[in-house]
Amino acid sequence: MATSLAARIGLDVILSLAGRTADPAPQPVPVRSGGFGGAEGLARYLRDEKIDLLIDATHPFAARISANAGQAVGHCDLTAFALRRPAWSSVEGDDWLSVHNVAQAVAALGEAPLRVFLATGRQEAHQANAAPQHHYWVRSVDPVEPPLTVPNVSYIHSRGPFRLADELDMLQRNRIETIIAKNSGGDTTYAKIEAARRVGIKVIMVERMETPGLPVVETVEAALGRIDHFVSSRMKRGV
Ligand SMILES: NC(=O)c1ccc[n+]([C@@H]2O[C@H](COP(=O)([O-])OP(=O)(O)OC[C@H]3O[C@@H](n4cnc5c(N)ncnc54)[C@H](OP(=O)(O)O)[C@@H]3O)[C@@H](O)[C@H]2O)c1
Repeated sequence: MATSLAARIGLDVILSLAGRTADPAPQPVPVRSGGFGGAEGLARYLRDEKIDLLIDATHPFAARISANAGQAVGHCDLTAFALRRPAWSSVEGDDWLSVHNVAQAVAALGEAPLRVFLATGRQEAHQANAAPQHHYWVRSVDPVEPPLTVPNVSYIHSRGPFRLADELDMLQRNRIETIIAKNSGGDTTYAKIEAARRVGIKVIMVERMETPGLPVVETVEAALGRIDHFVSSRMKRGV
């Protein structure tokens, strides 16, 4: 999205990051980082910076900032929408168990020790401490701090996109028996799901909670269409 917007003349874009990663990927537009201070803080920022258009393009599991955006726009005079990629659906050959959160996913592993690929990201990896009988392979961009307290854990530090061949290799080399994943949607992290299907292992899938609030588009193309409409209607009104 940022790449598409950077190429547009006449738009003054600012990208807001939560500030979770120590070394974020370079961006083609100016960036600000860190929380606003709740919905009120975000509303204040939007007014102070005279923002005309808000696009909530946050991660589908970053529910709080999306709810804050929904509340904040009610107190501001601006246009807003969310870009939310569709969730993945299981296809023939998938063995999925859908759960509501990471704690449920860890509980669903059961009593018998398993070799588990925990692909939920760093922030919720600690839920694995509740089931120390399993061996976990935890993948995240930044280190998990503090480390898990379970006796058997291996950390993999890497940033997507991930390729199918690498995911297959990772699952087979480590003899992974189950994956815990979030239903993030999109292409960049789907390879592990496809790899699980090919190898024939279960995926415990943490499903999203619906975030009420802003109108939603599902693709960058649809978002650009909305932006074009927004810009041309302002030009017609002479704003
Ligand atoms: N945020 C990400 O970049 C990200 C990336 C990958 C995955 N996730 C997933 O989302 C889950 C929750 O992540 P989270 O705690 O970052 O999100 P969150 O629960 O929605 O947000 C928590 C707080 O972080 C700040 N924040 C979040 N996104 C922001 C942004 N783009 N710009 C400025 N401030 C922002 C806000 O603080 P204030 O209330 O102070 O404004 C917000 O209330 C994670 O477990 C992970 O699964 C998030």
